[in-house]
Amino acid sequence: VTRITQLSACLIAAALLAACTNEAVEAERAAAAQKAEIAAAEMAAASEAEVVDSADDDLDIPDPIDLPQFEARKNLMRAMGGAGRRVGSSNMDEAREAATQIGEYSLAARHPRFQPEGPEYDAFAIELWRRNQEVQLAMAPDGDRSLLQQALRGQRDACQACHTAYRIEED
Ligand code: HEC
Repeated sequence: VTRITQLSACLIAAALLAACTNEAVEAERAAAAQKAEIAAAEMAAASEAEVVDSADDDLDIPDPIDLPQFEARKNLMRAMGGAGRRVGSSNMDEAREAATQIGEYSLAARHPRFQPEGPEYDAFAIELWRRNQEVQLAMAPDGDRSLLQQALRGQRDACQACHTAYRIEED
């Protein structure tokens, strides 16, 4: 009888242990799930912060400038076309000078004198300014030349995006 009692006590203990182990596993699982949830929330918060960061970038966009040597936008754009051809030059001095001009012209294009089109036009000109910054970065003495061709393509695309939107034929 004693044996049987001992045995059943043992069995009960074993069952309790198993129950305990199960509970522990469950608790661990729940904790892991919670950790994953927290990590996901943190990631969401981080990408939200990034959105805020890129909104901050907008604040760094320079104000429009007036380049009085260009009487009308057409004149500005002709100069832009010239700079657009020189910017691909293998002569880095010439290419850099042209890139600097494109940057200035992109700011001048947003001057109220040239900007009867409104906020969408403004956004296209800002996009050109941004792409031009990448070109200038890649062209800088310590810049990453391997990024240059791609940056130049991006700049070219920014010209074309505006021209396409306003149905402008480049010559
Ligand atoms: C924000 C809009 C916008 C962007 C960006 C833009 N252009 Fe233009 N472009 C125009 C408009 C508008 C005209 C038409 C000019 C006019 O007749 O007033 C034009 C016309 C031109 C012309 C024809 C000028 C002529 O002889 O009539 C050339 C060349 C040109 N753009 C080159 C460029 C190049 C190169 C870039 C990029 C480096 C560029 N543009 C970026 C709006 C833009």
